Amino acid sequence: MQYERTNQMLPGFALLRPDSEVGWEFATADTQYLTHGLFPYPARLIPQIVHRLIAMYWTDSESGKICDVFCGSGTVLVESSLQGIPSIGVDINPFAVLLAKAKTAVIDVTSFDAIKADLRSSLQTFDGNALEEYVPAFTNLNHWFKPGVIAQLSHLRKAVETVTDEELKGIFKIAFAHAVMKSSNVDWKSSRYIRVMTEYKLQDHNPDAFTIFWGNIGDIEKRLTAYTKKKRAKVEVKNGDARSLPIGDSEIDLIVTSPPYGEERNTIPYIRWSKLFLLWLGFTQDEVKALEIKSLGGMSVKNITSTKIPSNTFWEAANKVSERRLAEALPFMADYFVTLKEMQRVLRPNSKACIVIGHRSMSRILIDMGKVTTELAEAAGMRHETTHYRNIPKKMIAWTGPTGDTMSEESIVIVSK
Ligand SMILES: C[S@@+](CC[C@H](N)C(=O)[O-])C[C@H]1O[C@@H](n2cnc3c(N)ncnc32)[C@H](O)[C@@H]1O
Repeated sequence: MQYERTNQMLPGFALLRPDSEVGWEFATADTQYLTHGLFPYPARLIPQIVHRLIAMYWTDSESGKICDVFCGSGTVLVESSLQGIPSIGVDINPFAVLLAKAKTAVIDVTSFDAIKADLRSSLQTFDGNALEEYVPAFTNLNHWFKPGVIAQLSHLRKAVETVTDEELKGIFKIAFAHAVMKSSNVDWKSSRYIRVMTEYKLQDHNPDAFTIFWGNIGDIEKRLTAYTKKKRAKVEVKNGDARSLPIGDSEIDLIVTSPPYGEERNTIPYIRWSKLFLLWLGFTQDEVKALEIKSLGGMSVKNITSTKIPSNTFWEAANKVSERRLAEALPFMADYFVTLKEMQRVLRPNSKACIVIGHRSMSRILIDMGKVTTELAEAAGMRHETTHYRNIPKKMIAWTGPTGDTMSEESIVIVSK
C-alpha cells in the first residue's frame, strides 16, 4: 500500500494546534477512537496529547520518522500514521508488540471474512473437552479459569494458530487475548495486582469464551476498517530493549514516548498484567519471569553510584529513604539514564524528544520525574527546551501505588539533541 505524505490534520483536530494557554488534561476527551480502543493497556498515552505533541514538534522532513522507544500498545504509532508520518515503535513486552501491530494493521475485509468462516467451522467440532496440547502448563491454572472456559480457550487457541497470514493471525490473537481476559476469574478492576474475583462474584461468573471472542472480532473489524481508511503512513513495531535500540545513529526525527513509571515490581507491572495472555499465547512461565527481569529496573544491581544516575533531584530524595527501598529503585534509574543516552544516539542532530512521565514516590517521598528526566537527558548530551506540566484527571489515574500514593501530575519534557 502506498501512503501519501501531507500535513493535513484529522477533521475536528484543527483546534488542537499548539497553544500554551490550552490545558493538557483532556479530561472529557474520547480516548478510544479508531483502534485506540481496541484493547486496554496500563498507563496508555492519551491520543490527544500525542496528536498535539506531533503538531508542535514535528518539523516536516521528506524522509523523516517518529519513534516511540517504549511503544506499549502503540498510541504514538497510531497517531503518527494518521498524520501521514512513518513511525517505529519498540517494546520489551511481546504482548505490547502484538497489540501495537494489530492496532496499526490494514485489513482487507474479504480475507478477514474468509478467516472468520474457517474459524467458525473449526470451532463446530467443540465437544466440551479441553485439547491438552493447547492448554498452557502453569501453576494454578484452575485458580484463574473455570474448567469449561479452559476447554473453550484451548479450542480457540488451536483455531487461531491455524491462520497462516501472520498479520491477520496477530489480529485474531488479540481477540483471543480478549477472550482470555474476559473469561478469566480475574477481577480486573480490583487493583494493579492481578487478583481473582470474590467467591460471591465467582458464583455468577459463567462466561462463554466463544461469544466473547466473536463479539470482540466484530468490534476489531469495525475499528480496523475505519482506521484502514485513515492510515497514511507506514508503521514498524519491534520487540526490543530501549537500552540498546534496534535503530541506527541519527535515524529519528522526533521521539514521542512515555517511559514506565518505575520498576515493574513497585509501580505499574506491565508484564504481570500481560501474564495470562502471554501464557495462553505460548510463552512459558520461565519466559514470562525473564521478561520481568528484562524490563526497565528488573535486574537487581549492586554498587550503583551517582555517575550512573547523574540527577541531583533524584539523590536528594534518595537520601531520605531506607537503604532497602533505595536498592530497589536504583536499577530503574540507572537503566532510565541508559535509555536517554540511546534516545540521544538515535536522534538526528537538532531533533527533539517529548517524554511524558508521571511523578513517582519512594516510601512516600515524591520525586519530580520531570526534573530527573531533564537532568539525566542533559547528562546524556541533550538540551532542555521546555517542560509542560499536566494534571492527570482523576478518572484517568489507573492504579494507586503500593504505598497508596496516587500520581496526580505528570511532566511532558521536551529536549533536543
Ligand atoms: C508507560 S508504558 C507505554 C504505554 C504506551 N505509550 C501506550 O500508549 O500504550 C511503558 C512501556 O515500557 C515498556 N518497557 C519496560 N521496559 C522496557 C525496556 N527495557 N525496553 C523497552 N520497553 C520497555 C513496557 O513494556 C511498557 O509497555
